[in-house]
Amino acid sequence: MATRGGFSSRLGFIMAAAGSAVGLGNIWGFPYEVGQGGGAAFVMMYLIFCFVLCYPVMVTEIAIGRKTEKNPVGAFNALGFKKWNFVGKMGIFSGFLILSFYNVIAGWAFGYVYEMAIGNFAIADHFSEFVQDVFKVGAYGMVFMATTAFVVSKGISGGIEKAAKFLMPSLLIMILLIVGYSLTLPNAMDGIKFYLIPDFSKLSSEVIINALGQAFFSLSLGMGALITYGSYVNKKENIVSAAAFITLADVGIAVLAGMMIFPLIGFMSGGTMDGVGSGPGLIFVTLPQIFGTIGGTFGAIAGTLFFVLLCFAALTSTVSLLEVPVAYVVDEKNVRRSRAVWLVAGAIFLIGIPSLLGNGYSDFFSNFITYPGSETATDFLSFIANVANDTLLPLGGCLIVFFAAHIWKKHNLDEELSHGAPNYKGSFLQKYLNFAVGYLAPAVLGFIFIITVLKTYFGVDIF
Ligand code: TRP
Repeated sequence: MATRGGFSSRLGFIMAAAGSAVGLGNIWGFPYEVGQGGGAAFVMMYLIFCFVLCYPVMVTEIAIGRKTEKNPVGAFNALGFKKWNFVGKMGIFSGFLILSFYNVIAGWAFGYVYEMAIGNFAIADHFSEFVQDVFKVGAYGMVFMATTAFVVSKGISGGIEKAAKFLMPSLLIMILLIVGYSLTLPNAMDGIKFYLIPDFSKLSSEVIINALGQAFFSLSLGMGALITYGSYVNKKENIVSAAAFITLADVGIAVLAGMMIFPLIGFMSGGTMDGVGSGPGLIFVTLPQIFGTIGGTFGAIAGTLFFVLLCFAALTSTVSLLEVPVAYVVDEKNVRRSRAVWLVAGAIFLIGIPSLLGNGYSDFFSNFITYPGSETATDFLSFIANVANDTLLPLGGCLIVFFAAHIWKKHNLDEELSHGAPNYKGSFLQKYLNFAVGYLAPAVLGFIFIITVLKTYFGVDIF
């Protein structure tokens, strides 16, 4: 443990894991997915997935990590099931893909710090030009990736933990202030209705697929990020309660992000909610408008502060994404940590270049693929997000829980979970988790995985 490093305290782990979960997925991803998925019906599916399916996956990942003190590949080996380490390898591959596009969006958020600081609220109308200025946003992305690499190279308690402890609470306060402001705008209630009153006719296989992918992505599950973080956790830690806190914090911030955005869209559209389904650019168009309505120096200060905090939220997430392949290379390939960090970060930056170019700059990457049964083309970034978030993460999660319950065996999982949680054995939660990890989650995740592949890549909709 001494050479690998570890979290210095209980709070340190929880804050770092919550920091991994809370990021662009909550503030950028969630509102735009809700907008495209028809509002409250999506929100409902998302909430059900988070608590019923994803929470058990999270508990399992952390337990496997703590038990083995290894990266996602080494963890399967250490438990004696080398054949299963393909699940870890798949996770590392997913992490590469996710960080490659995530960093592009983080670069945009970083660029917005400057735009807000100079009071350029009109950028709301020029977002598409902003993202097509690929040398500028590419440079922002490069700085962001270098910062991530720097933090990861400092190791666990030095970098990740310190930053997360202070920044997460600041972000929460800032969001609460903006929610309060948003709710006072005219037509705010039309936004709230769209967001909170479900219209069940909007439910479709696509909404279900996206809600599940969003839940996995937002909670940082399915690729072993939490196996890796779990590997740095102390035996005295109560995993089930820590995971509950992380899930609640993540879902809470996502829900608040919606309370911030939808009232504003109600206001801007005069109650019609036009533009709510505009996709990945949503917050980059709506948020400058919020700060614009505040106006003047105060609007600029609020906007700058908000995007600074968003960048930090993104940073605690990119750090966890980079940590996974780095821990793998360090543990399994005996590469020095500092060297591993820069090699991996450089490679991921390069893989991200098509995602950078596919937002209008390059025709080829902007219309990268047309799925069977679809009339419109999908850009490279969205394609990678479909592959990683909606397909690989739920598959990874499905395999991880199946493995834990039926290969490693439930009693071993129970044993690990009861360290630090003396009342766990025999509790109702134990019974639920046994059922969820053993049957419910593998079955439902496996089923949705099949639907996803058929629908997304073959255009076959079985509903
Ligand atoms: N959860 C983060 C977000 O919402 C993104 C993230 C960080 C992630 N680490 C991950 C997603 C691991 C999947 C797997 O922004």
